[in-house]
Amino acid sequence: MIDPKDIKLAPSILAADFAKLGEQVKEAEKAGADRIHIDVMDGHFVPNISIGPLVVRSLRPVTKLPLETHLMISDPDKYLDDFAKAGSDAFIVHVEGNAHLHRTVQKIKALGKRAGVVFNPATPVGAIEEILQDVELVLVMTVNPGFGGQQFIQSTLQKIRKVRELIDRLRPGCDLEVDGGIEPHTIGAAAAAGARVFVAGSAIFCAKEGITGAMQNLVKSATGKA
Ligand code: DX5
Ligand code: ZN
Repeated sequence: MIDPKDIKLAPSILAADFAKLGEQVKEAEKAGADRIHIDVMDGHFVPNISIGPLVVRSLRPVTKLPLETHLMISDPDKYLDDFAKAGSDAFIVHVEGNAHLHRTVQKIKALGKRAGVVFNPATPVGAIEEILQDVELVLVMTVNPGFGGQQFIQSTLQKIRKVRELIDRLRPGCDLEVDGGIEPHTIGAAAAAGARVFVAGSAIFCAKEGITGAMQNLVKSATGKA
């Protein structure tokens, strides 16, 4: 049985009502969110456009929670400074399309921020092995990035297990986070496979039971106490 204290939720504001963003983030904080997940999309690396540093700047005074910035953009190095200045606490950068991932990670660390790497469903686990020692977090995409509200891809469970094994062997203490399609009926399997940090957008901000109720349900489902 997984201890509920070990389950961390990272509400993704992509699914929030942007007219009420501050209020909704405050409610998520009060309900026990561990961090706020911010999805940045450029219409190039992924086929959708979302938000930039201005939104991070507006959110910074609203919450004490870490602002975790998931960069789904073609040239992450170019924008790290702007996001850091705006108030991002952590950066998660994609393995795909980055010929100099190590340099990107070092740049994040030089800014004094937490560094994480993320990979898409079809990218093999080996792609992160060499960078693992340098990061605090590995994010496994459980959908193809670009949109909220997609269905959890079941074959990623095997990948989560492999990443868990790798982290336990090479970098204990590194966060194992999952992103995409996390809902009450999928979170349990992802937790059993070894994930402990869960990004959830639609399941939190679009839930009929409201943000607080939805977060409580997710924790219960993750620990098998549903
Ligand atoms: C997808 C994003 C996710 C997204 C998750 O590209 O990285 O963080 O917001 O949304 P849900 O939880 O609705 O699948
Ligand atoms: Zn994300």
